[in-house]
Amino acid sequence: MLVVGANGAGKTNLLESLHVGTQGFSPRTRMDAQLVRTGADRSRISLQGHRGPTGTTIDVTLGRRDAKQADLNGARLKSVEQLRREITTLVFTPDRLALVKGAPAVRRAYLDRSLARILPTRAALPIEYLTAIGQRNAALRRIAAGLSGRDAADPWTGKVVEYGDALVQARREAVALLGPLFTERANELGLLDARISYESDAPTRAQLDARFDRDLERGLTGLGPHLDDMPINADTRDLRTFGSQGEQRIAVLSLLLAEAEVLRDRRGVLPLILLDDVLSELDGSRRAHLALRLAEFGQTVVTSTDAVTLPTAPAQLLEVTPGRVREVV
Ligand SMILES: Nc1ncnc2c1ncn2[C@@H]1O[C@H](COP(=O)(O)OP(=O)(O)OP(=O)(O)O)[C@@H](O)[C@H]1O
Ligand SMILES: [Mg+2]
Repeated sequence: MLVVGANGAGKTNLLESLHVGTQGFSPRTRMDAQLVRTGADRSRISLQGHRGPTGTTIDVTLGRRDAKQADLNGARLKSVEQLRREITTLVFTPDRLALVKGAPAVRRAYLDRSLARILPTRAALPIEYLTAIGQRNAALRRIAAGLSGRDAADPWTGKVVEYGDALVQARREAVALLGPLFTERANELGLLDARISYESDAPTRAQLDARFDRDLERGLTGLGPHLDDMPINADTRDLRTFGSQGEQRIAVLSLLLAEAEVLRDRRGVLPLILLDDVLSELDGSRRAHLALRLAEFGQTVVTSTDAVTLPTAPAQLLEVTPGRVREVV
């Protein structure tokens, strides 16, 4: 589906509402108040669609003050986060270039979200690990303040080792699944010898014990997968520093396509794919390759300021003008 409209018409708003409506959160901001129209108190997103043979309806409401709520097929979900387990949406927005350009934390967070989708039985691991780190750090500060004895951190150190090991294992598996496809898709889009890597060893009990005094001084755990990176290279170049804008865009897109393929082949899930402004920096042959790949998946919504930029005819063409969406037939 192609969504066209002038700058500022509301294309990104439309895409963002599809993301909030299917995942429960915005890809752009954590501040839900920004999603409510200026001057209004509440927002509501109502979606109707099909998942396989069955019809699905979703309603998400969010207010400036109240908690977010989501109804799936008329039944209230316990939390909006549950939507993510029901429906998989992959999104590209120009902001996502931060995945290549940004600090290691951005790539870590992406990898953890991705592993939650690819290996759903281990979706909780990143949070469990970070909770253990938070508890260990809190214990370190209590010890430093003389409020607890030195052994107060022990149980949390044990948890950090246990969850750290499981998290590193899950991340390695996710990268092993995504990596080869990432290289293939990037190659097709003209970025040669691209590679994602995750080389990490979880800390052992002995390693954490050896640096106990340093951690105690800082009140922070200075070793573990919460500090890891997933470098993205092309040949020997680290794209974070040496990638052109177009190459960084191809890297983000290739990662999305790789994940869509893993989801389809391993879990039988065809994700909803949202691509905001993806075509603008790709030349003609790369657009054609992208269009070809996208045709293999479920529903894809692509925005553009220009209707002629897609090499294949879209199944549906929507035109956005401020406050209105119209189907062009
Ligand atoms: N919470 C809000 N309340 C009211 N208007 C908003 C809110 N958030 C964004 N807008 C406005 O919505 C308009 C449409 O923005 P949007 O980003 O969707 O445009 P676009 O079609 O994607 O444009 P572009 O082609 O430049 O990316 C903008 O003018 C923006 O200022
Ligand atoms: Mg936009």
